[in-house]
Amino acid sequence: MSLVQVGDIRLNVVERGQGKPLLLVHGYPLDHSMWRGQLDGLANRCRVIIPDLRGFGASDVTPGTVTMEQMADDLAGLLDVLKISQPTLFCGLSMGGYVAWQFALKHRARLAALILCDTRAAADTPEAAAGRRKTAERVLAEGTAVAAEALLPKLFGPATFAQQPQIVEATRQVILRTRPEGVAAALRGMAERPDVTPRLSEIDVPALVLCGEHDGISPPDEMRQFAARMPQARFVEMPNAGHMAPLEQPMAVNTAIREFLGL
Ligand code: MLT
Repeated sequence: MSLVQVGDIRLNVVERGQGKPLLLVHGYPLDHSMWRGQLDGLANRCRVIIPDLRGFGASDVTPGTVTMEQMADDLAGLLDVLKISQPTLFCGLSMGGYVAWQFALKHRARLAALILCDTRAAADTPEAAAGRRKTAERVLAEGTAVAAEALLPKLFGPATFAQQPQIVEATRQVILRTRPEGVAAALRGMAERPDVTPRLSEIDVPALVLCGEHDGISPPDEMRQFAARMPQARFVEMPNAGHMAPLEQPMAVNTAIREFLGL
């Protein structure tokens, strides 16, 4: 792990391996550690780069609102600092997928391929956005336990709760360690993220769209539908997984990623 100065903030980054750069971008309100199975399983095939997004993990926090576009710009800045000029493989989960859309639309030349895990193309409904803003206020007043209690029951599939409770507990600890200002800023940023659905045809890089079969936040049917509107996307449903497929079923997800990327 190391802190990298990117513009006005420091981002914490984990890096391992050599070859094609593969950026793994975590979801809300998590950090790089959700990708441990991919770090172990893919770093012998490519250069794995796993940042903590602005406001999360050991990266700096900026209060207020952090948009998905800001996070995408942070990652483009990170690639500059790491002197990576070749197009990158970008894999994002959920909020990391919202960041991936912005990266694809704004930094297209830097992108070789996209992997979209358990994420959505649609914006929030006005009710959902209002709910996020309310949660942001509560997290600031009461701490991140509020976010953990709201989210944990929705993150995993039934098999994970039954057979891998240590994953649920480790995720709870990550959320409890995350700073409230970072969580609130990302909640406000997600609330104002744009609807990418009308722009899916512009996202013309090869794409793998991957969804846990029990994902209730970004369900398989919804992901299958947006994949069908992308020019070069392949949809894969992951058995025995919920919203956190790469953490719940790392070997199967790594196999799908390796096959897609030809690694
Ligand atoms: C995530 O996993 O990043 C969140 O569930 C995204 C969201 O709340 O929309």
